[in-house]
This record gives sequence, C-alpha cells and structure tokens, in this order.
Amino acid sequence: MAKGNDWDDELGSNKRQRKRRRQHKQPRKQSSSEQGMDEDFARNEQDHFLSNLEAKSGAFNWMKEDRYKRMFRDIESNIQGALGIGTYDWVDRRVFDQVFDRMTLMSLYKLMKAGTLDTLDFPIARGKEAHVFHATDIDGKVVAVKIFHTSNAVFKNLIQYIEGDRRFGGLRRRHRDLVDIWVRKEHRNLSRLSRWGLNVPRPIGIHKNVLVMEYIGTDVSASPKLREVKVDDPESVFDDLLEFLAICWQKANLVHGDFSPYNILWHDGRAMVIDVGQAVIQTHPKAQEFLVRDVTRLVEWGKKNGIKVELAEAMFEVLNMNLDHVQQQTFSEEE
Ligand SMILES: Nc1ncnc2c1ncn2[C@@H]1O[C@H](COP(=O)(O)OP(=O)(O)OP(=O)(O)O)[C@@H](O)[C@H]1O
Ligand SMILES: [Mg+2]
Repeated sequence: MAKGNDWDDELGSNKRQRKRRRQHKQPRKQSSSEQGMDEDFARNEQDHFLSNLEAKSGAFNWMKEDRYKRMFRDIESNIQGALGIGTYDWVDRRVFDQVFDRMTLMSLYKLMKAGTLDTLDFPIARGKEAHVFHATDIDGKVVAVKIFHTSNAVFKNLIQYIEGDRRFGGLRRRHRDLVDIWVRKEHRNLSRLSRWGLNVPRPIGIHKNVLVMEYIGTDVSASPKLREVKVDDPESVFDDLLEFLAICWQKANLVHGDFSPYNILWHDGRAMVIDVGQAVIQTHPKAQEFLVRDVTRLVEWGKKNGIKVELAEAMFEVLNMNLDHVQQQTFSEEE
C-alpha cells in the first residue's frame, strides 16, 4: 500500500533523526570507518541543502526561459541602477525578492516598451506595501515609480498553510488581484485629486502593481516630509492643507484617510500630499470617521506649530468653506 509505505518512510526517517539527535548528545570517540560514514553523511546533508536551495531559487527559474530571457535582455540595463550590476547577479538580493517578481518585471517591460519608463535608477523609499524608485521616462524626465509588493511577510506566512491544500486554491492569484486593484485605486484617486487642482503628484502611468507618477524632489533626493521640516509660515501651510481637505471633501468627494505629516512632502515651498491609495469616496461607510481623523491630524500639526485652532472649528471650515472659485480642470489622464 503506497500510503502505508509513505508513513513507514516518514516514521523511519523520524527514527533516524531521533537516533542522530542521540548521537549528538553523546559524542564519543569514532573509529576511522565511522568517520568515513560521518563524512558521507555530511556530504549527503550538504547535497540535500543545495538541492533544497535550488528548489527554492527555482522560483526564479522562469528567468531562464527563452521568452523571459529575451525580455530581460531588453530591460536589464535599464533597471540595473535599481538592482545592481551584472547579469542575474542580483537574483538573490533582498530587494529583488521583495519587489521584482515575474509579473512586476513584465509590467516594467510593458511600461518601458510604451515609453512611459526608460530607466529605473535607485530606490527612494521602502514602505510597508511598496518600494518607490527614482526613474526616467523616454524623454529623460525624472518620474517616481511606486512598485507595490505582491506578497509580504504576513502573506508568505499564511500561504504556506494554504498552498497545496486543494480545497483553497488560487490564493496567490486572488491576492495579486487585490494588490492590482489597490494600485488602480491609488491611480484613480491621484487623477481625481489632480483634476481638482490639488497638490498631489500627477499620475503618469500604471501597469498592474506598478504606478508611475510625477517625481517630487530634486536631482539628489526626494523632497522631505512635512514632518521633517520647520516651515517659515505654518499659518499659511495650515490654511492650504485645510483647503486641501475641504476641496477633497466638498468637490472631489474623497477622504484621504491617512492624512499626516508623514504623507505630505515639502516641495518648493509648498505641501504636496502623497500616498492616496487608501482614500475613499464620500459614500464609504467610514468616510466621516476618516475625515475627522484627517482633520484631527492636521489640527495636531497646527498646534505643534503654534497655531491656535480647535478641531470643531477646523471641521466646520472643511465642511462649509466657500469653494465657489474651485473649478475642475481638464486633465489628460482618464479617471
Ligand atoms: N511622487 C513621489 N516623488 C518622490 N518621492 C515619493 C513620491 N511618492 C512617494 N515618495 C517617497 O516614498 C515614500 C513612500 O511613499 P508612500 O507613502 O506613497 O508609500 P507607502 O508604501 O504607503 O509608504 P509608508 O508605508 O511608509 O506610508 C514617501 O515617504 C516619499 O519619501
Ligand atoms: Mg506613506
């Protein structure tokens, strides 16, 4: 019976393991023939380890397939800044593991073929859900590329208990779909906010988990977070940001949802709001709760910077500020 044999094997190997453990516990002098056996054993162990390693890095075997190889040859030099030098040298790098899986490389390839991207230069930031890279488009203009991770530590932990259980197939696929939807959401939110003339990076392109947007920074670095700078005129920054929230709510019908000095960049003397993936529309059941939280964060920042303002007053402003002068702008990207 095949099944019985499997179990016998399992038990047998367990027995062997137990024996091995016992041997470890009680080291004793070995005869030369025993030494030879140990060497064999060590060699076996090493072989086993290496073949395991191969199986693991087999995740990258697809890279050796002809069509991907060709694809790679096309884009490899363009993404080398982000990955390191030398053909395939970088396959075992951490950044590669976390960011550049097959679908992501395909997305980069597509964006590069379309001219939306030319080079991927270096990482600007590593967030919980994404890496952001300094990149250029086909005309040499600098752009920011946010590459969302298609799996994280939590997912990796969960999937090992689900993958291989026939009752719950397709989890990877569904997880990827969810990531892609999230990226589309960030892209659409950026478009909508841009159309209302708000200070956010212009969306430039999207393919699956890769979002290309206007780069907010200088030649040498991305702009600092509002959290990290001391502004000369906090009052006017506060007013601008309050108006930002009011336009979001009253005109764009959106709530940012994670409005904080960490998600606002200080660029050219102005506040630029980023990280809008979690922004929700006004009809979302939690929209009001998120709005209060966003305004609370702004009021906290204001108070820290010496502005006398209370939450109720700021809330009233956001809900009632006269915004007749604010018109929707035409914007080439589709929402
Ligand atoms: N358009 C941009 N131009 C320049 N730098 C950017 C741009 N977008 C994001 N960044 C940089 O990348 C960082 C992370 O971006 P973002 O907040 O959108 O990602 P995230 O994955 O949500 O990160 P976190 O989990 O840290 O909030 C930002 O703090 C900023 O330094
Ligand atoms: Mg962020």
